[in-house]
Amino acid sequence: MKLGTLKHTVDHKPVAGDFAIIEAPVPACPENGVLVRTVHLSLDPYVGSRLRGRHMGEAAPEPMKGAIPGAIVGQVIESRVPSLKEGDWVQSMEGGWQEVCALTAEHVRKIDPSVAPLAAHAGVLGMPGLTAWSGITQLAKVGAGDTVLVDAAAGPVGGTVGQIARIKGADRVVGIAGGPEKCALVTDTYGFDACIDYKAEGWKDRLAEALPDGLSVFFENVSADMAMLALTHARIYARGVLCGLVDAYHTETQSQHPLNAGLIIGKRAQLSGLVVYDFYPRWDEYIAEAAPWITSGQLKFAEDRAAGLEEAPALFERLMNGKNKGKAVVTVAPESV
Ligand SMILES: NC(=O)c1ccc[n+]([C@@H]2O[C@H](COP(=O)([O-])OP(=O)(O)OC[C@H]3O[C@@H](n4cnc5c(N)ncnc54)[C@H](OP(=O)(O)O)[C@@H]3O)[C@@H](O)[C@H]2O)c1
Repeated sequence: MKLGTLKHTVDHKPVAGDFAIIEAPVPACPENGVLVRTVHLSLDPYVGSRLRGRHMGEAAPEPMKGAIPGAIVGQVIESRVPSLKEGDWVQSMEGGWQEVCALTAEHVRKIDPSVAPLAAHAGVLGMPGLTAWSGITQLAKVGAGDTVLVDAAAGPVGGTVGQIARIKGADRVVGIAGGPEKCALVTDTYGFDACIDYKAEGWKDRLAEALPDGLSVFFENVSADMAMLALTHARIYARGVLCGLVDAYHTETQSQHPLNAGLIIGKRAQLSGLVVYDFYPRWDEYIAEAAPWITSGQLKFAEDRAAGLEEAPALFERLMNGKNKGKAVVTVAPESV
């Protein structure tokens, strides 16, 4: 089978040439688990940090041996546990860049293929969607009267944040994204009230115009600077969800991300750090709530797709440079065999 690995250790922002697709033996089915045929592979920004040993203390894979980490959606081809049988569809955060994954049962979640397209379980119903739902409904507790600002708004987290905020009753939802195409996706497809292109001249004035009554919630995906800018537009008692600092994932030295304490105090702001791991036990609850939103057309998603494991390095490089428009997904194998 094919397996995607590192050619060498990396201490820079990963590029396609850092990866190798090699032949590896099909693993044995673990005693307390399953063998899964990988169909869709999720590419996520945190993996870039993890390959440099910078993510939550998790180790980088061994070059020319270990699979690149990544969530997968796939089908069970062999099972040694009663809870899962051949043919079941599953999602796992522990799959990785490989055509067949050996997974223990605790790392596998059974999914219902009828509730949404299967690839959605890598994005809007996968870890990015769960992240958005957790921040909006469990931490910021968005409801009527709220004005919500989110950056990286064209991506799977940001795009879902704004749409769930709207579904939960927010009055106004504003995005920030890089470039006119991404902003069009955010307003025309995701239905945000406005999207500000931060690469365009005068964007900070446009942002102020888009928030005439300020904001009550901001959801930070990009940087401490962006979070501080959001705070300048905050009403008092605003809530901020600190989700990601993607702009700093590949800086040479990891900065300390200073926050303006005086501004936070003056705004009486409440800031919550979000780590999606805390919400994994509530994944099925999220899917039960969100799948009908997809069916009804209230929750839309976009995908940046590639086909075949060989295409994963190029798509990963695009993701590392913020060139993806929507969820980066590699379809490793056809859904039906
Ligand atoms: N806390 C958690 O548990 C958790 C879980 C999942 C994801 N996250 C975080 O949530 C954020 C969004 O994740 P996602 O999967 O939805 O990603 P994504 O939006 O598909 O990709 C990241 C986006 O960040 C923007 N960006 C801004 N500065 C960048 C830079 N210097 N390099 C690369 N991209 C840059 C780009 O969009 P623009 O061109 O629009 O700026 C890029 O498309 C990330 O920070 C991620 O790490 C956190």
